[in-house]
Amino acid sequence: MSEQPRDSSAPTLFTWEFATDPYPAYAWLREHAPVYRTTLPSGVDAWLVTRYADARKALADPRLSKNPQRHSAAAHAKGKVGIPGEQRADLMTHLLNIDPPDHTRLRRLVSTAFTPRRVAAFAPRVQTLTDQLIDAFEERGEADLIHEFAFPLPIYAICDLLGVPREDQDDFRDWAGAMIRHGGGPRGGVARAVKRIRAYLGELIHRKRLELVERREEEDGEDLISGLIRAGDHGEHLTENEAAAMAFILLFAGFETTVNLIGNGVYALLRHPEQRAVMQRALEEGDERLLAAGVEELLRYDGPVEIATWRFATEPLTLAGQRIAEGEPVLVVLAAADRDPERFAEPDVLDLTRRDNQHLGYGHGIHYCLGAPLARLEAQTAIATLLRRLPGLRLAADPEDLRWRGGLIMRGLRTLPVTWNSAD
Ligand code: HEM
Repeated sequence: MSEQPRDSSAPTLFTWEFATDPYPAYAWLREHAPVYRTTLPSGVDAWLVTRYADARKALADPRLSKNPQRHSAAAHAKGKVGIPGEQRADLMTHLLNIDPPDHTRLRRLVSTAFTPRRVAAFAPRVQTLTDQLIDAFEERGEADLIHEFAFPLPIYAICDLLGVPREDQDDFRDWAGAMIRHGGGPRGGVARAVKRIRAYLGELIHRKRLELVERREEEDGEDLISGLIRAGDHGEHLTENEAAAMAFILLFAGFETTVNLIGNGVYALLRHPEQRAVMQRALEEGDERLLAAGVEELLRYDGPVEIATWRFATEPLTLAGQRIAEGEPVLVVLAAADRDPERFAEPDVLDLTRRDNQHLGYGHGIHYCLGAPLARLEAQTAIATLLRRLPGLRLAADPEDLRWRGGLIMRGLRTLPVTWNSAD
């Protein structure tokens, strides 16, 4: 890797304390080493980009490729692999691992199927799912909001949207659980779950294709996988593998992210009673604008995607004065950029009424989150319904005792024990 000056006061990253609260370490990096070389727990060396302006530039820089095969040959020679996407070839050739022109073609294709209209039409279903999940624990007066609420909601929602039949959705719930539990590494439970998902998606796509042959016209409420196949048949070609990879990325980009937006968001509200009161008042007054703005602020303050997915230099380049060699991985730290005092006034303060809140929580540039409208719908529905139905909601654990998952990309709680007065 290219060299950088050493500084003995640099914080230690990726420890348990860091996973609990990475923000002081990011503040140090932003100030002293805004493009910082580190060795990740997997043994791979990478550059961390922590300032807002640099992060935004890097996310839109065409010299940074998303293709893991661009990772330097030197790292492979040293046996330093561990980048998701390198080993599990076929499902991994999805939007977040490809560059133009393939990315442009596939993104256009999926955009014709994954429209804001389709998402908006899905709102009543998300509301029903949310209410059913709360019904299941309301009487008990206590719950773990991660396992009983934040986790099941997005998996059922995205399965419905894709067109996975209801009777198969619990399998997906188990596979998704296996992927989260094992922290996204390439081994064991994850590899098995990915294999099952691949086989299942292959069959499902085949079945939907046959159904489409019999039914030539688009029908109201057609699912996303059918929409995708139809778009592929009418325009640019979509291979079976590309369709499976697309379904896979929609499931998994849309799953743990949303779990953590709901989890981190509710947790932040419970820790900031005055902000929670602002939200509760807005809900009583039917102020949908504050609900929407508030969820954006929760995303900026403690968003689910701590670090954007992998990027690799396709040529030697300089970022904020730092030389980066060809093939070196560059990780844009969204959580650090979104607390940059150069961009946000009092960035460490949670302020649901904040204006000028162009956070990077959904990324930026050509890989900007495709599912942002769905994520917003789910998070707003979940948080609003929870606070409306359980206004006395409070934390049932000492914050010191809560555990964070500690993965590289995602930031989220393992559990979120809560309680409320049954008279609520
Ligand atoms: C991309 C965040 C929910 C689908 C991204 C990226 C971010 C992000 C930061 C860009 C990553 C990068 O450039 O490295 C989030 C957050 C979510 C969320 C914070 C929820 C709270 C969803 C949902 C879906 C989804 C619900 C779909 C069902 C995608 C896809 C991409 C993406 C397909 C790749 C787009 C591309 O490469 O062109 N998301 N996401 N996301 N997201 Fe989301």
